[in-house]
Amino acid sequence: ASYDMGGHDTYMHKEIHEQADAVDRVLRGRIDDRFSTVHLGGLNLDAREARQIRRVKILGCGTSYHAGLIGAQMIEELARIPADAEPASEFRYRNAVVDPDTLYIAVSQSGETYDVLAAVQELKRKGARVLGVVNVVGSAIAREADGGIYVHAGPEVCVVSTKCFTNTTVAFALLALHLGRTRDLSVRDGKRIIEGLRKLPGQIASVMEQEAEIEKLAQQYAEARSMLFIGRVRGYPVAREASLKLKEVSYIHAEAYPASELKHGPLALIEPALPTVAIVPDDDLLEKNRAAMEEIKARSGKILAVAHQHEEKADQTIVVPKNEDELDPILMGIPLQLLAYHTALALGRDIDKPRNLAKSVTVE
Ligand code: AGP
Repeated sequence: ASYDMGGHDTYMHKEIHEQADAVDRVLRGRIDDRFSTVHLGGLNLDAREARQIRRVKILGCGTSYHAGLIGAQMIEELARIPADAEPASEFRYRNAVVDPDTLYIAVSQSGETYDVLAAVQELKRKGARVLGVVNVVGSAIAREADGGIYVHAGPEVCVVSTKCFTNTTVAFALLALHLGRTRDLSVRDGKRIIEGLRKLPGQIASVMEQEAEIEKLAQQYAEARSMLFIGRVRGYPVAREASLKLKEVSYIHAEAYPASELKHGPLALIEPALPTVAIVPDDDLLEKNRAAMEEIKARSGKILAVAHQHEEKADQTIVVPKNEDELDPILMGIPLQLLAYHTALALGRDIDKPRNLAKSVTVE
């Protein structure tokens, strides 16, 4: 595929910068202010069926799996339905128990990832209801699913997914709100989430304005041999995706860990040569995250925080705009896409086509 680069040097850079518009598109026409809910026409799930769901299981690979981890948390928080995400590639080989009251959701940018498609086919053989959260319209997974949500990120050319990840998390927020409003989510909370969603495009634009500073940080981090990414609960999947982004595009080794697990092992690694990126949302876990940063500092570790205000414990902070607590993960990963991009650029990497990787993995 060759699309206009629109003045950008790489598709990755272009696609990172397209995110405010892309998010606008995934929201467009779906919000219902009158009833503080959203309409998702393609779901093929009426309110009664929605109420019968006892669990949600989200399946995807790589970045799409990470978007699913965020989606599962949103569904639990807003709809209070137990939800989790699992790599489709693992799920399909473990003869999982397929339960008729579970809603299965397959997530994929390309809609062609073989491991995800095979999981969907296996689920359907066993009589499960499977929805797709897919970017490419009419793709194999979209056709195989019983219904779903198109992510409308637009064409993504860079092997490393950025805008589709963000749009997928927004699509999950819409689904969580929709399911929540068939259950116990109040009109007031519905309104609150809708207002938060509407703020996203403008907030993404303001993250982009920090690119020059992030570029400077990237020049420092390009020297690292390895990096640690930490977060708790809402911040943890953000850390995982940021760590994948960095390693895919810069080839710097990175590992994501729940901040809560540091003392159970990874603290042993902390020294000045291993920088940590800490995801520090201003939510009920703020003080816990600050304590984790303190433990790293006490061992002379260097910290870059992504937070909602300047963090004293960190050596540097990238401040992102605050949204509703449940929606914070959508924004917090975006500056780290820029960090991965500029780190890779400083190292002279092949940004749009990292070695050994393909845009969609259509084979076993
Ligand atoms: C994304 O940066 C990766 N290159 C990769 O993990 C990707 O997300 C994964 O292969 C799944 O692809 P899909 O979303 O097209 O199914």
